[in-house]
Amino acid sequence: MTSADSTVAHLPKVELHLHHEGAAPPAFIRQLAHEKRIDLSGIFTPDGSYDFRDFAHFLSVYEAASQVLTGPEEFRRLTWAILEESAANGVVYSETFLSPDFCGGGDVAAWRDYRAAIQDAADEAEAKLGITLRGVVTCVRHFGPEQAKASARCAAETAGNWITGFGMGGNEGMHRQGDFAWAFDCAREAGLQLTTHAGEFGGPESVRDAVRDLKVERIGHGVRAIEDPDLVHELADRGITLEVCPGSNVVLGLYPDFNAHPIARLREAGVKVTVSTDDPPFFHTTMRREYEMLNRAFGWGPEDFAVLNATALEAAFCDEDTRARVEKRLEIT
Ligand code: ADE
Ligand code: ZN
Repeated sequence: MTSADSTVAHLPKVELHLHHEGAAPPAFIRQLAHEKRIDLSGIFTPDGSYDFRDFAHFLSVYEAASQVLTGPEEFRRLTWAILEESAANGVVYSETFLSPDFCGGGDVAAWRDYRAAIQDAADEAEAKLGITLRGVVTCVRHFGPEQAKASARCAAETAGNWITGFGMGGNEGMHRQGDFAWAFDCAREAGLQLTTHAGEFGGPESVRDAVRDLKVERIGHGVRAIEDPDLVHELADRGITLEVCPGSNVVLGLYPDFNAHPIARLREAGVKVTVSTDDPPFFHTTMRREYEMLNRAFGWGPEDFAVLNATALEAAFCDEDTRARVEKRLEIT
């Protein structure tokens, strides 16, 4: 292993795959739990990090932490904390996954208030920190297709300039992508762009299902497509963009380390790859660290990351004015 080239740490960055609750600093969640007298000691290590054994346990720790976030004002504060951290890591454009399940329980009126508070904080961060955020409403796969319909209705009711996409996270072991077709059709008809988690814990067939049954233009993770060379060609031919989160994949045990991660092979095969953090404090990562680790593992330098950023910006769920503005920021930063 070679040492990291520190110049990559300071490059501007575009991030497409970030879960809002998953980006909550543990100290933020601990403080809220303390204020509300909720005992969350079981989800933290003695040094205050999130504590989980495997993917299923990660999801339950994630949901336990999310339970303490109970109102729009808390999401406003959380949004500011997330964007301060992202901006400090050189991120100039980010998309965040927002679940109406955790923001009003799927009720449209409640969701409107959460969305407004989150966008308020994002607008302030854009003015003060120079980072642009857009929201992608996500349903949670293991909450099931009916609950996903409620999320899609929330997404459709607030589709517009700031809520720009719809997607799905959660446990890939439950249900099939096609079971969520109604929710994705509803979001598409409202003008939203689409992404879904696939090919993380599901194999290549889950990526095929996502493309065929949900007609998404991006895939969250998608890295296990590497196990099927025909699928790799298909993704390259169709220009499907992968939101790759290498540090997350390593911590959750998909690959032993960055050197074994397939991102470089996917890129060499012509697949559009981008880099994100997923749930940064859970995986002890930041966008800066992802860049440094990729530089170490594959020798990627500023030119490689400029290509990655251009790919991400091209696939970003934003309007053309925003894209042009962010493009300028990538040039001058
Ligand atoms: N929700 C938050 N992080 C996730 C991940 N890595 N996979 C699936 N769902 C998630
Ligand atoms: Zn994710």
